[in-house]
Amino acid sequence: TDLDSFIAGLPKAELHLHIEGSLEPELMFALAKRNGIAIPYASVEDVRAAYAFSNLQDFLDIYYAGADVLRTRQDFHDLTTAYFERAAADGVRHAEIMFDPQTHTARGIAFETVIEGLLSACAEAEANHGLTSRLILCFLRHLSEAQAFETLAQAEPWLDRITAVGLDSSEIGHPPEKFARVFAAARDKGLKLVAHAGEEGPPAYVHEALDILHVDRIDHGNRSLEDVALTDRLAREGMTLTVCPLSNLKLCVIDRMEDHPIDRMLEQGLHATINSDDPAYFGGYVADNYRAVAAARGLTRAQLATLARNSFIGSFLPPDAVSAHL
Ligand code: ADE
Ligand code: ZN
Repeated sequence: TDLDSFIAGLPKAELHLHIEGSLEPELMFALAKRNGIAIPYASVEDVRAAYAFSNLQDFLDIYYAGADVLRTRQDFHDLTTAYFERAAADGVRHAEIMFDPQTHTARGIAFETVIEGLLSACAEAEANHGLTSRLILCFLRHLSEAQAFETLAQAEPWLDRITAVGLDSSEIGHPPEKFARVFAAARDKGLKLVAHAGEEGPPAYVHEALDILHVDRIDHGNRSLEDVALTDRLAREGMTLTVCPLSNLKLCVIDRMEDHPIDRMLEQGLHATINSDDPAYFGGYVADNYRAVAAARGLTRAQLATLARNSFIGSFLPPDAVSAHL
């Protein structure tokens, strides 16, 4: 339709994408075969059938298990290249890609293997599609502060090629405050900071991400709307929220897409953006996310253009590059 092509044609940045969450079942099977690994699924359909989640933890268990097929630098390269192909087709001009090194180093895969595979794919995407990118190293919040520090130390040789650190995995019971010191250390090294907050966790976790971690963006942030003072503050400070509609639906943050708060966020002055989070698991890439909320909430073209514009403004590109995209 007309609206579909309008959405695909909107230049956009993707700011919330876990590269491990872009592992399509077909690639999972291909990598399992290439690496001689047995996987607990009989077919691609069988894998897709397993992707029915009641909450974040249900998803995380399956997502960490799926990542086991990623073993070599070539695997990480191929995974990332497959994402860039889909992103380019969706009108993505710039992507800030999260990766979870601890998911891999815990299995004996070297940090170097992971990041060099990602970096070579990033260079190719820029050469082949003009698609620019940045990397965001995420700490798994269910692991300890000491393990996060260890991961930051492993990243040291690549810090000039890592733009930010982030915080993901099981939110409830692992408040931002747990990572105050490692985020301060990352900030001292010149890294930008993001954190998942207010996806399943309470508005208090968003307050902590702002006041204790001093983040530059909030990932998700949905539950901020429960706190009027917090909502006003986020709007006043121009804080970017990286919202993920299909993820919200699949992880039962909302019951129906018709309930999605994206347009209320815009009305309240929040700098919301649309992103895919883990597209292979949640049923769609970034343009699918725009289309899903556009249909369910009757978004106007002006609102969709605002969301796309917000994605460049909220990116970690330098101001001249942001301007060039607007
Ligand atoms: N890791 C990958 N996707 C995530 C999400 N939506 N929330 C927390 N951790 C994640
Ligand atoms: Zn996420």
